[in-house]
Amino acid sequence: MVKVAVLVSGGGTNLQALIDAQAAGKLGCGQISLVVSSNSKAYALTRAENAGIPSAVVRRKDFASGEEYDLALAQTLKDNGIQLVVLAGFLSILGPKFIEAYRDRIINIHPSLIPSFCGDGFYGLRVHEAALEKGVKVTGATVHFVNEICDGGEIILQKAVYVEEGDTPEILQRRVMEQAEWELLPKATAMICEKIANKK
Ligand code: GRF
Repeated sequence: MVKVAVLVSGGGTNLQALIDAQAAGKLGCGQISLVVSSNSKAYALTRAENAGIPSAVVRRKDFASGEEYDLALAQTLKDNGIQLVVLAGFLSILGPKFIEAYRDRIINIHPSLIPSFCGDGFYGLRVHEAALEKGVKVTGATVHFVNEICDGGEIILQKAVYVEEGDTPEILQRRVMEQAEWELLPKATAMICEKIANKK
């Protein structure tokens, strides 16, 4: 088994997709062992509890510096034997110390086809607002490795989703989640867990 931590900040629908995939035997050798939230009120914590998965809250504001936060977060994960970190709507910035501690072991889901609509400031609804403003006809989601460059790590999986007439950012966000994110994140997690298991 490869121990996976899912880092969240909000509603946790991507976490739910991972939990459901695991229950359906579709997470391969991946095992969701810990959920870490940057926000104590995140509904994702309730999803973890309902699924019987241990959780922790680690908030940036409780630490004097980004470096201390990075080290504390990495320590929490190491203490739990975590081998893969999955960012699923995680809104805190991870610094170089954390990235170094989990080099090539952090993946993220981004709601666009990278390299479009990504990088600094492109998160949540803003991504879909920008896609609609530009008038693209196709958008989608990307799962990628996390490195020091925002949304700049190696791409693992992508899936395209059509923009439709009359779309609002909210409607488009929902379609991208339903048609791409909830499918891609469990798939990519299973793939990377398989690779980690085979390296041992
Ligand atoms: C998703 O759109 C994800 O791509 C982005 O943040 C959103 C998180 O949603 N990074 P949820 O908390 O998984 O419901």
